[in-house]
Amino acid sequence: EKAGYKHFMLKEINEQPRAVRDTTLGRVSLDSGDVFLPDLKLSTEDLRNAATMTIAACGTSWHAGLAGKFMIERLARLPVDVDYASEYRYRDPIPGSLGLLITQSGETADTIAAQSEMISKGTPTLAICNVVGSAITRKAQGVITTNAGPEIGVASTKAFTAQLTALFTLALYLGQQRGTVTPDQSRHYVDELAKIPAKLEEILRVLDDRCHDLARQFSPASDFLFLGRGIHYPIALEGALKLKEISYIHAEGYPAGEMKHGPNALIDEHLPVVCIATKDPADPTSVLKYEKTLSNIQEVTARSGRVIAIATEGDHEIEGLVEHTLHIPAAPDLLLPILEVVPLQLLAYHIAVRRGCDVDQPRNLAKSVTVE
Ligand code: F6R
Repeated sequence: EKAGYKHFMLKEINEQPRAVRDTTLGRVSLDSGDVFLPDLKLSTEDLRNAATMTIAACGTSWHAGLAGKFMIERLARLPVDVDYASEYRYRDPIPGSLGLLITQSGETADTIAAQSEMISKGTPTLAICNVVGSAITRKAQGVITTNAGPEIGVASTKAFTAQLTALFTLALYLGQQRGTVTPDQSRHYVDELAKIPAKLEEILRVLDDRCHDLARQFSPASDFLFLGRGIHYPIALEGALKLKEISYIHAEGYPAGEMKHGPNALIDEHLPVVCIATKDPADPTSVLKYEKTLSNIQEVTARSGRVIAIATEGDHEIEGLVEHTLHIPAAPDLLLPILEVVPLQLLAYHIAVRRGCDVDQPRNLAKSVTVE
């Protein structure tokens, strides 16, 4: 059942190329760049008239939502609010024109409650969900199924990358319906999306051993910091969550630029700091973000912090600045999160295994949280 892998989590990490491929299958045309999401059941007019979107989700799915905000705002020029589903209904919220629930199981009580709150206020809801026929999909007006397949490990991995993939296709679809992306841009993005599964395979082939080695060095640490900027910040949060939930090491994700506003005080020679410092050379905003992140990295190394950088293939400049560099293939900024989370999953996995933790069944956690 684990197909030769020691744990479900490792099997599921390795299934990500397929999960991403199956989540785009039949939904994009490489020729025209068009996206097809017939199960959304919203008219072009509804999508054009939408003024705002509200996303609600929990845990890892909430991290996907935070990244999705960048995709939807950039491609569809639709302002997006992202809420913890567990907080949503306790403040008489003002839902946007469209609600979006993101959930692997479709049975998370807090997310069901957020959906009910939206529906009771007259907001149509969409769901990105991995389980067909689950509670949230039954109440949603439209659904995008993530075709990750059953996820057994409590720590979510392939469902997350499938959610990011679904969010990207949704953002592109909204952009096409709202006329905010050109046919050329659409073809380019669909082409880049189609290249992601092979890039994931390359990461799995090259970085598993590297993460295994890093785990030997860093598994005794008592705290970890994960830094990222822009759409990479939610991935820093996800890296920290993966590590804390399966290895029980205290970890925090932080926006790189906020370090100097307080957390720099934490840095010493014992603190491992994982910095996401990728870039898309074709995208000026991405390059600017990268340069700022490099100076944040220098602030960490100047205080003897031990930096593990996630960087883009061919970036040798960064190697001179940090202790360890894990290179991932280049991609457009909006698609990089799907790639950069994989080494963070592998790092958490190998550290947890070295510490003798029950990776698939972490203490105090359930796969599906059906109480509020
Ligand atoms: C973390 C994890 C949880 C879930 C959260 C929401 O690895 O799995 O944080 O993401 O409980 O669950 P779903 O997506 O089923 O609503």
